[in-house]
Amino acid sequence: MEVIIHRDYQSMSKAAALLVAEVLNTKPNAVLGMATGSTPLGLYQELVRLHKEQQLDFSRVTTFNLDEYVGLPARHPQSYHYFMHEHFFQHVNIPPQNINIPSGTTSNYPAFCQWYENRIAEFGGIDLQILGIGSDGHIAFNEPTSSLSSRTRLKTLSKQTIDDNARFFDRREDVPVYAITMGVGTILDAKKLVLVASGKGKARAIAQTIEGPVTSMVTASALQLHRDATIITDEEAATGLKMRDYYEFIYAAKPAAPKS
Ligand code: PGA
Repeated sequence: MEVIIHRDYQSMSKAAALLVAEVLNTKPNAVLGMATGSTPLGLYQELVRLHKEQQLDFSRVTTFNLDEYVGLPARHPQSYHYFMHEHFFQHVNIPPQNINIPSGTTSNYPAFCQWYENRIAEFGGIDLQILGIGSDGHIAFNEPTSSLSSRTRLKTLSKQTIDDNARFFDRREDVPVYAITMGVGTILDAKKLVLVASGKGKARAIAQTIEGPVTSMVTASALQLHRDATIITDEEAATGLKMRDYYEFIYAAKPAAPKS
C-alpha cells in the first residue's frame, strides 16, 4: 500500500486525477470504477479540466459506479446517477452507453446485482477503482461487519452513514436506509485502487485503514490485502497516522528507487 500525504484538498485531488490520467494514457479503453461523495469532487473537477485543456480523452472509457441509494430514481437530485451526471459525465466525452451505475429502482435486486457483477467481468474487470472512505471506515456502502469477500448486493446503511449523509437531504428521515453496493470482494478484484480522504473527520478511519488490523469493522482496511492500492490524503486526514514520517520518506525516495 502506498500512502501519499498532500498539504491540502486541492493538491490531493490533483494527485489522484494524475493517477487516473496515467491509466488512461497507457490504456485509452480503460475501465474506471467511480465513486460519489464530497471527497472525489475535486478529483472530478481536475479530470474535467484535463479533458478540456489537455484533451484527456474518455471516448473509449467504460465506467462502473460503486453504489446507489435504493428507492431514488436517477433524476432525484440526491441520487448517485444525478451526482455523476452533474459533476462529471456531462463534462467529459464518455459515451452514455459506456456508463454503468447500479439501479436504485430495479424490481429484482438479486438479479440486478448478479447482472452488474457479470457486466464488470464482461468488460475484463475494473482497471482503476476510485474510492472515498466513510467516517466509519466503509468503502462504497460496505458498512462495518460487511464480509471482506462480499459482492454487489443490497446493504442496510449504518446509523453513522445516515447521520453523515443527512446533510444532503432536507430531513434525516429522507436518507434512504438501503443501498445497492459493490462488495469488498468486488472492489479488491480491481487491478488498481486509489482512495482519497480529506478532513479531520476521516483521520481515525484512515489510521485504522492503514495501520490497524484487517477487519470487517473497518472495511477500508481490506485495502491492505490489495497488491496495488494508493491512499492519498490531505494533512488533516493524516493526523492519526503513527508512521507518517516513513510514508513521507518512501515518497521522497521514490524517484531514485530502482525500477521494478
Ligand atoms: P464523503 O463520503 O466523501 O462525502 O465524505 C465518503 C464515503 O462515504 O465514501
